[in-house]
Amino acid sequence: MNEHGRRGTRLKELYGSALKKLKRAGVESPELEARIFIKKALGATDAYIYAHPESSVNSGALAAFDSLIERRLAGEPVAYILEEKEFYSRSFSVNRHVLIPRPETELVVREALGIIRALHEGAGVVDVGTGCGCIALTVALEAPGTKVVAIDSSQDALEVAASNARRLCAEGRVEFLQGDLLSPLGDGTMDVVVSNSPYVSEVEYGDLSREVRDFEPPGALIGGKDGLDVIRHIVRDAPRALKSPGSCVIEIGESHGTAVKEIFAETGFIDIAVVKDYAGLDRVVRGQWRR
Ligand SMILES: C[S@@+](CC[C@H](N)C(=O)[O-])C[C@H]1O[C@@H](n2cnc3c(N)ncnc32)[C@H](O)[C@@H]1O
Repeated sequence: MNEHGRRGTRLKELYGSALKKLKRAGVESPELEARIFIKKALGATDAYIYAHPESSVNSGALAAFDSLIERRLAGEPVAYILEEKEFYSRSFSVNRHVLIPRPETELVVREALGIIRALHEGAGVVDVGTGCGCIALTVALEAPGTKVVAIDSSQDALEVAASNARRLCAEGRVEFLQGDLLSPLGDGTMDVVVSNSPYVSEVEYGDLSREVRDFEPPGALIGGKDGLDVIRHIVRDAPRALKSPGSCVIEIGESHGTAVKEIFAETGFIDIAVVKDYAGLDRVVRGQWRR
């Protein structure tokens, strides 16, 4: 028998006990999470939870609920437990092979779309380090007619991205390639290079929350000693893969604006801009390439 130890547990009791545990564990939004897990375990809606607090919960749903709460109390992020995360108003499947898409990354997509929408039909866009495919698939769906390629070194991540293409009815809209950064691409083949690649420095990694360090893939986060190893490679190789004119749009860590702008400038990019996120922090660098 599970921890509730009785038949006929009521919905409001389940909610109350989950709330207490989540509060004790110090999660940020215990009420919201308790409801989220009840909905997941019972297949219920918010309306049902509010309207039927006295309803009894069957043993299967109770066991499912206990297991969700246990995982959360062990620090697992909600997105991995629910196996989904919303990005740009669409729901993406996620698992522990991929980074959970962050809201800041929507800014990268917005910047890229601003460039892409001014281009010709069939413009080539590559998403480097695609993870769950959130950037590539969003670009393909928001800018139909664009030829999108998505690259990741992790085959497991590419499987998640391909499953998201099916989930979002975007099969065939993105070509997924396994490889190292831009290396799978021919010379002068792309109009836009876009990327949210690993950019956490080794020191910063040690300071991240346990929720991130214990559950998200380190290879999706760590960008070498100063966090810029991967970005340097992408920016320096981008002119080879780009047509002229072409563009490069890169997500950065909040302290990297000046350094990444410098990498763009040294490489020969022009019209370089550092774009701030909603919190007023440097988040994206973009630049144009002309031969
Ligand atoms: C920060 S995650 C971003 C994932 C996704 N773009 C997003 O915004 O949620 C970086 C991704 O880059 C991939 N990656 C790391 N090093 C790579 C490399 N050398 N070549 C290709 N992909 C790489 C990781 O596997 C991971 O999926």
